[in-house]
Amino acid sequence: MDASAPILLFDPGVGGLSVLGEVRRLLPDAPVIYAADNGGLPYGTKTEAEVAARVCGLLGRMSERYRPRLICIACNTASTIALAMVRDVLNVPIVGTVPAIKPAAEQTRSGVIGLLGTAATIRQPYVDRLAAEFAADKRLLRHAAGELVGAAEAKLRGLPVDPAIYARAAAGLRDQPGGMEVDTVVLACTHFPLVADELGEAFGPGVRFVDGAAGIARRIAHLTQGQPLTRSRPDFALFTKDEPGLAALAPALAQYGLGPDRTPAMEILT
Ligand code: DGL
Repeated sequence: MDASAPILLFDPGVGGLSVLGEVRRLLPDAPVIYAADNGGLPYGTKTEAEVAARVCGLLGRMSERYRPRLICIACNTASTIALAMVRDVLNVPIVGTVPAIKPAAEQTRSGVIGLLGTAATIRQPYVDRLAAEFAADKRLLRHAAGELVGAAEAKLRGLPVDPAIYARAAAGLRDQPGGMEVDTVVLACTHFPLVADELGEAFGPGVRFVDGAAGIARRIAHLTQGQPLTRSRPDFALFTKDEPGLAALAPALAQYGLGPDRTPAMEILT
């Protein structure tokens, strides 16, 4: 094992940073590449075929170029659609992100769980299977809240976000039959923990949010246990498209250890 082989975290945008935050806590010395397919963002409104093709193609190219020791698909949409396919084609350990329905079912007291994800995620059979396996005796209300992806992207660029976006996400669950009894909400998109405070205000007191980031970080720590970890270069963010808004992300990326403050540590995949 090359001690400088990175852990590659992949998401279409900034969402995977919510996972990187937990990975940093457990593995502060791990070399990391944060890969964002901003050229394909958002995935949540794409077809299954489009998402699968992008994820398999990009992860193939990235693993040839950067030789990661492990890839984390830090995106629920990509994982629920393409995790099995990526595992079939790449010879590197792959950790996926799946909606945290199991812990939510363990924590709810009212028995009514909300699930916020992208349109593509909430319709996946994978979610049906998780619900049947872990929450069969609970009520699971789903709502596609893709607008929150744009909200998280804007927030991390320091741009203003219309609070009505958060209110609409909360109302999407509250307005369903039984919605007022929701006490636990699964944030089934990695972008959503980045706006958890704003969502908390929109839902009001008495609602707990659950996401998979800490569990994913534990899984990564387990799979890399005992491996040597040395940085041969500073950790950086890799994008699939150069665009003017990227520079505005530098301070947020730096907070996650991707480059020094305000100095972009970024590459564009060519
Ligand atoms: N962060 C991604 C997820 O976890 C979704 C963002 C998108 O729609 O591209 O589902």
